[in-house]
Amino acid sequence: MSSTNITKVTSHPSQNEQLIFERSQHGRVGYKLPALDVDETPLDELVPQELRRDDDLEGVPEVSEVDVVRHFTRISTWNYSIDLGLYPLGSCTMKYNSRLNEKVARIGGYANLHPLASEEDSQGALELIYELQENLSEITGLAGVSLQPAAGAHGEMTGVMLIRAFIDARDGEGASAKRRTMLIPDSAHGTNPASANLSGFTVRTIKSTAEGLTDLDHLRELCAAGDVAGLMLTNPNTLGLFEKNIEEICRIVHEAGGLVYMDGANMNALVGVARPGDMGVDVIHLNLHKTFSTPHGGGGPGCGPCCCSKELEPFLPTPRVVKDGESFKLDFNRPQSIGRVKAFHGNFGMMVRALAYIQTHGAEGLREATEAAVVNARYIAHGLKEDYDKPFDAPPMHEVVFTDKRQSRKGVHTLDIAKRLIDYGFHPMTIYFPLIVQGAMLIEPTESVGRQELDQFIAAMRAIAHEAVEDPDTVINAPHTTRIGRLDEAAAARKPVLRWKPKEAASAA
Ligand SMILES: Cc1ncc(COP(=O)(O)O)c(C=O)c1O
Repeated sequence: MSSTNITKVTSHPSQNEQLIFERSQHGRVGYKLPALDVDETPLDELVPQELRRDDDLEGVPEVSEVDVVRHFTRISTWNYSIDLGLYPLGSCTMKYNSRLNEKVARIGGYANLHPLASEEDSQGALELIYELQENLSEITGLAGVSLQPAAGAHGEMTGVMLIRAFIDARDGEGASAKRRTMLIPDSAHGTNPASANLSGFTVRTIKSTAEGLTDLDHLRELCAAGDVAGLMLTNPNTLGLFEKNIEEICRIVHEAGGLVYMDGANMNALVGVARPGDMGVDVIHLNLHKTFSTPHGGGGPGCGPCCCSKELEPFLPTPRVVKDGESFKLDFNRPQSIGRVKAFHGNFGMMVRALAYIQTHGAEGLREATEAAVVNARYIAHGLKEDYDKPFDAPPMHEVVFTDKRQSRKGVHTLDIAKRLIDYGFHPMTIYFPLIVQGAMLIEPTESVGRQELDQFIAAMRAIAHEAVEDPDTVINAPHTTRIGRLDEAAAARKPVLRWKPKEAASAA
């Protein structure tokens, strides 16, 4: 929330808009304790002075239970969520998180198990982890799976570390030190170069063709340098297009001595239909919080499993959950492992939900979900083709990208269209990503929406396109129906006000 935002809200302190701090009344509490029926122990005996906090607690809200409940209930209604409607954020796969998965995750034996419980007492949980590993191995066509990484970017970093460890072991330290280039297409998600860089690689960018695919000639040219450790490729790529030359791409990289990393954030377009391992990919991460319907959870917890070929398996994080006869155990005896990347076993609750998703769908259901996700994106592509320009001709997979080229001639840009969508009751699509598309609008409906909602979304987008011609100011000044209008987004990002301070402290600062 920017300072502009806070000022606006606090300058109209009607009861509905009060911050919890403004609701505070001295002495108000949310509990009542019975009278003490034992001798009072002097505070000094209980908590020595040096262990007590000495900062000023002034400003901590003093509120009753009902104040707290009303405060949080009220602000929860200001959110837009996947449970309210279509959430078409491209690349994010905002699909419905089934209540059944939540129910399973709350089963006491899973939810209350301590991560330090013995193997003997954790057999059910270890079996669940093992089962999920096996399922993801089958889905990706890759033999080794680690569920430790806590997010997509974390899975990427783990995968790239595997590539590095594999090359070091294969080539020996001297030779492998010369192989430190990671190739990444210009359409890639920003986390790809960040992961490569963190793992000690120099990133070189591959151009995309006019068709929106990896430029094979440029790839060959870059591979000829002889220093390529690998390629990080998203498939379908971030333009929503299937890299139809994937087998050739893998061949070129392998012949140059490198490995192929696939960013699997877009697996919602492939699950049950095509397997990265069969295409020649060596390592991939999955986003359970996207494809396998676990909640995105405001920055965590997530789960970004790393899946790899048999050759890379010895380097996977330690420990691994393995089957030992009829029971399950943690295998720490992994001399070539890159080590641990997350405490304990990773975010276990996400694994429970993902396995519930996989098992309730079954192979047939997973394939149907994939097909529906692709058909839905194509339905939107078709429905908007008269009103918005699509930068590439190929039929999209699970998400479709448009450009604001046509609307920007009238001074209406992608940001304006996104803000106006809010007035029509929809969460905006992903905007200005991928970077190689002018004013990109990346729309991913997922399989969770039906035709009626798709039609409503298309109608809203078409209405905005007409407004952009006939009444551009309405779009440019949107949103009109929200509690606050446009924020100063640059100030919000550069000078975020993340902490409330009492008025005197704020004015003194
Ligand atoms: C293509 C792609 N790769 C990687 C990531 C990173 O995933 P996470 O946000 O879970 O770290 C994302 C996230 O949006 C993505 O869209």
